[in-house]
Amino acid sequence: MPTSQMPGPVIPAISRLLTALSPVRLPFDSLKFITDNTEKYGELFALYFDDQVNYVVSDPQIAHDILVTRHAEFHKAPLLRNAIGNLVGNGLLTSEGEFWKRQRKLAQPAFHYHRIASYSETMVSYTQRQIATWHSGEIRDIAEEMMALTLAIVNKTLFNMEIGNQAKRIGESVYVVLEAANDRLNSYAPIWERWFKTRQRREAQALAVLFEIIDDIIATHGEEDTGDLLSMLLSARDDEGKPMSAQQLRDEVVTLFTAGHETTANALDWIFYLLAQNPTAEEKLLAEVDALAGRTPTMADLAELPYSERVVKEAMRLYPPASGAMRSPLHDIELGGYPIPQGSNVAISTYAMHRNPKYFPNPLQFDPERFSPEREPTIPKYSYLPFGGGPRICIGNSFAMMEARLVLVTILQHYRLTLLPGQKVQAEQLFTTRPKGGLKMKILAREKAVPNAV
Ligand code: HEM
Repeated sequence: MPTSQMPGPVIPAISRLLTALSPVRLPFDSLKFITDNTEKYGELFALYFDDQVNYVVSDPQIAHDILVTRHAEFHKAPLLRNAIGNLVGNGLLTSEGEFWKRQRKLAQPAFHYHRIASYSETMVSYTQRQIATWHSGEIRDIAEEMMALTLAIVNKTLFNMEIGNQAKRIGESVYVVLEAANDRLNSYAPIWERWFKTRQRREAQALAVLFEIIDDIIATHGEEDTGDLLSMLLSARDDEGKPMSAQQLRDEVVTLFTAGHETTANALDWIFYLLAQNPTAEEKLLAEVDALAGRTPTMADLAELPYSERVVKEAMRLYPPASGAMRSPLHDIELGGYPIPQGSNVAISTYAMHRNPKYFPNPLQFDPERFSPEREPTIPKYSYLPFGGGPRICIGNSFAMMEARLVLVTILQHYRLTLLPGQKVQAEQLFTTRPKGGLKMKILAREKAVPNAV
């Protein structure tokens, strides 16, 4: 039996044995598992496997303690490093201490307000370019479309690179790597995999594809200072005047490249999915968009588009694109009155927190007005954490908010997206929360649609 008294489910040996012996991947809905157990055991519970105990937090005060008040007592969790270390190495997402601080300071100027403002034109023109290939009445996989779009945007804005027709290849490779990472996170290691290593080989191939593309981006960028983030990283020198190593450069670029597109793409998928089911919210947003009278939106217009911000925030409440944050205490500590040993894995589940009726009444209802100026201040502090918090808060949060709103508004100037009859969409957690198997939607030209700008 577990040594700790903290309540929580014991993962029975038999279920692990069945998984290990099954020739196919058994269905497992990790999001439901976490919300069900939160309901059953509370906002801090333990997951007991063999002699290992992991912890799941969705209590805002404890999350605040971990991320803010006591942040110096935690590092990123070993489970995270073990799961995605082969992809992001020692980049900004996983590095620690003084080294992380230095790298964050180096990257920060690329995310300052004025800098981000200069990205807005790319965000809009790339969206216009993407939807110029759409036709009214056709069905498209919006998840694929958004992934390609956000990938192109992050590459152009941060690295001054055109990704061209590589988007599909990159998207597929990222998926394979994240799926393998998620299997490691869930200790999914079936016996056939241990023998044949098919998944391992697929992952190695996908990583090779991604690294080749990243190395190519770095090589073709050259030393010339084009004012973008990659130029800043290339010209950075440490205290001894040495440039960043090729490996570190790759780690930073691959981190920004993956963290900077997947999440925003998922946010957009869920926004379109939720709008398609909530005609009142959709109409309100369309009315706001139409007030632009067909003008190409700019960053300055966002002040006149407040409802678009509420829609984005509410969609990220129901479907937080990054499913949470993982930490590990540097010494034995106490959380919520329970002892947590040094080195344990502690996961903050924003998904469970955002769906808790204690903090968000009627939590399953899509209600963008929760984020109106009157109601937003009544949301309990630290119960809404789509971008995390404290010193490790998402460096790209303002970039992502602006991008999601500009892409959304630009698309809605031309098209409405609808779900297909009888369509069921399930959320899948692969580090990010994405629609399982993609998101097929029907594209319908708007009656008041403005002429396509491209
Ligand atoms: C809707 C979009 C996004 C969401 C929901 C999101 C979410 C998050 C979250 C929750 C964290 C904190 C993880 C932790 O505490 O362990 C994080 C960190 C990070 N994000 Fe984002 N992110 C988004 C977009 C972006 C964009 C656009 C970029 C870059 C262009 C980016 C780059 C990063 C990086 C580099 C970190 C690590 C920061 C550090 O530890 O210093 N993210 N993100």
